[in-house]
Amino acid sequence: MGVDKGACESKGCCWGPLEQGSAEPWCFKKNAKLPTCNLGGSVGLPFDDAAMAKIRGYFEANIDVQGSGAVVAAPDHNTGPGGDYYYHWMRDGALSMGVFLVTKGMPAADGKMRSYVRWVQKVQNQQDPNGIDVRTEPKFTIPDGRPYTGGWCRPQTDGPALRALTLAMYAAQLGDEAYAKSQVAPLIKRDLDWVRDNWRQQSCDLWEEIRADGIFWNRMSFRAALKKGGALLAKLGLDTSGYDEAFGEVTASLKDFTQGDFVIEAPNRPIDTASPHAMNTMYLDDGVLGPLSLELAKTVRQLTKSFCREYAINQQNAGGQTGVWFGRYPGDHYHGGNPWILLTAAVAESLYRVAGALHSAEMPADVRAVWEEVLGASMGSSSDAQRQAFVGAGDAQLRLIRDATKQQDYHMWEQVERGSGTQVSAHDLTWSYANVLKAMHVRAAVTSDAAAIYV
Ligand code: NOJ
Ligand code: NOJ
Repeated sequence: MGVDKGACESKGCCWGPLEQGSAEPWCFKKNAKLPTCNLGGSVGLPFDDAAMAKIRGYFEANIDVQGSGAVVAAPDHNTGPGGDYYYHWMRDGALSMGVFLVTKGMPAADGKMRSYVRWVQKVQNQQDPNGIDVRTEPKFTIPDGRPYTGGWCRPQTDGPALRALTLAMYAAQLGDEAYAKSQVAPLIKRDLDWVRDNWRQQSCDLWEEIRADGIFWNRMSFRAALKKGGALLAKLGLDTSGYDEAFGEVTASLKDFTQGDFVIEAPNRPIDTASPHAMNTMYLDDGVLGPLSLELAKTVRQLTKSFCREYAINQQNAGGQTGVWFGRYPGDHYHGGNPWILLTAAVAESLYRVAGALHSAEMPADVRAVWEEVLGASMGSSSDAQRQAFVGAGDAQLRLIRDATKQQDYHMWEQVERGSGTQVSAHDLTWSYANVLKAMHVRAAVTSDAAAIYV
C-alpha cells in the first residue's frame, strides 16, 4: 500500500497491473510462487434441517419489518466503516423478497408479498427530495419509506428492474387476477417504463462506488425484468409498447461485456463477482450466458484465480478440496476488503446450476476443459459423474460458510475477515441469508430425481 513505481522497483520488485484489464498497478515480489486454488469438493449436505430452520428464521425476521413491507438490509445500526444498515435498500429488498417467494412458495408467501406490494406502492409514488427520479433511489428509511437524504451514490438503476422482476414472478403465481391487475401490475409497469426509456443512463454500480454508462449487473436486470414483466403485463392485457425493442437492444449490448476472456462487470471494474451473480439471478433459461456457457466457466476461472491471490485464507486452503472464498472485486477496501458470504454463496448457486443443466444437456468439450481446470480434477464424460463434481464443488463453497458461522449459531454477517475467516461488518445481513437459502434451494432441486425446477 502507498508504494509508487520508483519505490517499488528500488526494492527489487516488479510494478504492473494485478490482472489483465485492471487499472491500478501493484507492486509484486519477483518469482513469488503463489499457490493455486480450485473449486473441487466432495458431495455432502452443507446445512442440515436444524441449521436451515435457524437461517430461515433470521432471514424472515428481517422482512416485512414492523409490518411496513420493508426489508431491512441488516438490523445493525453500527456496522463499523459501513455505518448504519437499518434501511431498506431497493436492491437487497427486491432480491430478498424474490428469494422469499421462491423458497417459501405460494400461497405461504402471499401475506408478506402483499405487504411488500404496499411498500413499493408507497416508495415508488412520491416526490423525490434528492433531485432524481424516485425510482432510482437506492435506500429508504424504515418504516416511513422516505428516500434517504444524506450523501450517497445516486442514481442506482438496478432498482426499477429488480423490483419489477420480483413483482412479476409474484403476480404470475397469483390466483387473484383482479388484485394482480389492479395492485401489482401498475407497479411493474411504472418500473418497466423507466427501464424502457432510460436503460442507457449512467448509474452507480451495485456496490455503490463507481459510475459507468454500462454495467453488466444492471443490463442483466433490465433484460430479465423486461422479459418477465412484459410477459406478465401482456397477459393481463396491459400496454407494453417498446418493451420488446428495449429487450432486444439490451440483449445486443451484452456483447460489450462478454468479448474478452471473461464477462466484465464494467470497463472500469472488470473483475467482479457481480457477473456470475447476475448470470444466476437474471437467467432467462434461453441459452444466453447460461450455466453451460463458456462465458460462465471462464468468468468463474478468472474470479477463482483473483481471489485465491487476494485472500490469505484462500492461500492457506489452496490445493485442498475445501472451497474458495469470493469477494466483490480484487482491490476492494471496504471494511478491509474481505470475502463476502453472499458472493461465496452465489458461486455455489452457479455450480449447482451447472449440475442442474446437465440433467438435460451435454457440456461442450471446450467448456468442460475450462471447468476441469477450475475444479482441479478431470470429471470424465458421464453426465452423472459431472453432476456429482459440480454438486460437490457447490457443497464445498457452502461448507466454508457453515464453518465460519456455526459458532454464532449460523447468524450470518456481511463479510469474513480475509486472513482469519472470522465474521465482520454488518450483522445478520439479509442478503447473506437470501443467497444461502437460494443456493440450498437450487441444490435441493438439482439433487432430487425429479426434474429440476427453480428460478
Ligand atoms: C457504503 C456502500 O454501501 C458500500 O458498498 C461501499 O463500499 C462503502 N459505502 C464505501 O464506499
Ligand atoms: C453494501 C453493498 O455494497 C450494497 O450492494 C448493498 O446494497 C448495501 N451494502 C446494503 O446491504
